Amino acid sequence: MTAQAALLFTAPEFSGPIGVYDSGVGGLSVLKALRDALPGESFLYVADSGHAPYGDRDEEFIESRAIEIASFMVSRGAKAIVLACNTVSVVASAKLRSLHSSPIVAMEPAIKPAASHSRSKTVLVLATAKTIASPSVENLCRMFGEGVRIILQPCPGLVEQVENGKFEEDSTGILLEKYLRPGLAEGADTIVLGCTHYPFLSAQIARIAGPGVTLIEPSAAIARQLSRVLEGKMEPDDSKGNAIFYTSGSAPNMREFLEKTLAPYPEVHLLPASPILLG
Ligand code: DGL
Repeated sequence: MTAQAALLFTAPEFSGPIGVYDSGVGGLSVLKALRDALPGESFLYVADSGHAPYGDRDEEFIESRAIEIASFMVSRGAKAIVLACNTVSVVASAKLRSLHSSPIVAMEPAIKPAASHSRSKTVLVLATAKTIASPSVENLCRMFGEGVRIILQPCPGLVEQVENGKFEEDSTGILLEKYLRPGLAEGADTIVLGCTHYPFLSAQIARIAGPGVTLIEPSAAIARQLSRVLEGKMEPDDSKGNAIFYTSGSAPNMREFLEKTLAPYPEVHLLPASPILLG
């Protein structure tokens, strides 16, 4: 091959997939918005369902999984990584940015838009215990919480319900009642879905909260942020983007979840036990 031909075959920076990572299937709520906004892009989704939920684990564990999975994505040519998980974002985004030069888009609970939207000046934030206790959330409350009551509600158990596809079951409703009622009784008219698993429970949450309450989740904002970050490196909308999925849990379960929530996707694989070594 001539030097010129070799140059032509070198993959340009913008040809790889976008890596999307969550502790489990919750990040699919973000993937949906990303696919809608960037239809020409290909996506490589990793669900660490074999280790979910992350919300009650220690930070060292979450960070080491994040390092391993981000490296796996980069080894598969990811041109950018979306941390479609609030918990990973608050724990590991700084570390991942120090390790990788590719753009990393992270999430945070949408406290800023919720605070400006609330008429009752009372906002209820639902998230994992880890996210609620993080310095990032403390900062957001300090920066945007002036004159607004921000109720921070950890929600243990909800991630597991979503991982098991239990969106409408009574057992999910009992947990939601427990987490929503106190904040609603205090007058919250705006609820932040601060965990990417929770949009799958929106119907039940909206029913319990009633018509005067707004649910806010940031996946559309994340898609806009990704478009800004990829400026000039995006595939044209008419190119054929695909999506490939890896899970450290059960591939058949993930296939079933995808079919129920997004669309049937054939390409669901088991994540290698040591993604860095085998990636
Ligand atoms: N989807 C993750 C988030 O946004 C859930 C974390 C967990 O597994 O507890 O925080």
